[in-house]
Amino acid sequence: MRAVGRPLRLFFALWPDDATRAALAARGGEFHRVTGGRATRPESLHITLAFLGDCDPARCDAVLAAAARVRPRPFELVLDRVGLWAHNRIAWLGASEMPPELEALVRGLRGALADAGLPFDAKPFVPHITVARKVRPGSALPALRPVRWPVAGFALVRSVLDRGGSHYVVLSCWS
Ligand code: 2AM
Repeated sequence: MRAVGRPLRLFFALWPDDATRAALAARGGEFHRVTGGRATRPESLHITLAFLGDCDPARCDAVLAAAARVRPRPFELVLDRVGLWAHNRIAWLGASEMPPELEALVRGLRGALADAGLPFDAKPFVPHITVARKVRPGSALPALRPVRWPVAGFALVRSVLDRGGSHYVVLSCWS
């Protein structure tokens, strides 16, 4: 990454493997049909672990170094819940059980960022995958066949705004 230039919009995320992504995308299509919302593009499906927002490119090396201190343990995440948040009109998939490895990963990652003096949104972690946006308020939600996601690591992702909206670029992965 270059050490000069405009801020980069960054976040850390769980980034699905191809099979999990396909299963999630199928569920997203169901949400679109039922809620009228815009389904998240399959290549954009993820769970945000820590949101840094606009980051000075000069600090990217510090972000990478902080992430390298984290030692994630593999786990399975069972996505078995669906919901709709009225305040931002998103439909989401979530997990009724939080694996301890996921809790430890988020704690470790956020702790490493804080230790390095790197700012991030410190709102409590609510694991969710946004599967549709601009849903009709009060929509009924589709029944969900649970998705089993074998998580092996995490990613640093850049959000790029273009004419078609935001798209995401994976900058680095750790497992
Ligand atoms: P969302 O899907 O619930 O909107 C890229 O924008 C990712 O970062 C999305 O997962 C988005 O969550 C999340 N995100 C955006 N702004 C955020 C914030 N201020 N705090 C935490 N996560 C945020």
